[in-house]
Amino acid sequence: MADASDVLRISPVIPVVTIDDPQDAVPLARALADGGVKIIELTLRTDSALTSLKLIAEEVPDILVGAGTILTPGQADAAVSAGAKFLVSPGVTPGLLSHVLTLDVPVLPGVATVGEVMAVLESGLDTMKFFPAGPAGGPAYLAAIGAPIPHVRFCPTGGISLATAPDYLKLPNVSCVGGSWLTPAAAVAAKDWDTVTSLAREAATLSN
Ligand code: 3PG
Repeated sequence: MADASDVLRISPVIPVVTIDDPQDAVPLARALADGGVKIIELTLRTDSALTSLKLIAEEVPDILVGAGTILTPGQADAAVSAGAKFLVSPGVTPGLLSHVLTLDVPVLPGVATVGEVMAVLESGLDTMKFFPAGPAGGPAYLAAIGAPIPHVRFCPTGGISLATAPDYLKLPNVSCVGGSWLTPAAAVAAKDWDTVTSLAREAATLSN
């Protein structure tokens, strides 16, 4: 995968997935792939997240698996070692940004203000996660950023649903959206992989 703009072209929706039990990792990933969604942002919010990431990377080659919730350089290194094909952070610090730029995987740094967009641009990256998209201003805010800074491409995430995704996807500076709605906690707890597949199938039909 050459760079982050290629990552954003894989699917109109990047599922943001949190897995408690690594035994769920492979069936969950296969359920998403069966629905036509071939990418996962697996959050590092559980103790076993790296185990799940490794299992998906090794056993579900159809899926491009990346690590989300990267807060520190150490987490970035651990995620890449476990097989992460891209990295996503909810925000940026100078230390985290300079470290991830040394790694050999695409990175989507999180931004929520114009100044943060400019700081990430200065580092040489022009593809970013807009987080938390809904609370930070939604589609109107992204459209406004596009006036002075039209060349940055965003993956907005945070508070987006199947119903609101099209409002973002129609913007010229939005390549895809992220969201956790494809893998509801109740469906994962019940190992209801058919529901995950059907939510993925719906999401895959959105146009970006
Ligand atoms: C993220 O980390 O990107 C968000 O937690 C996902 O937001 P959502 O749960 O509102 O989709």
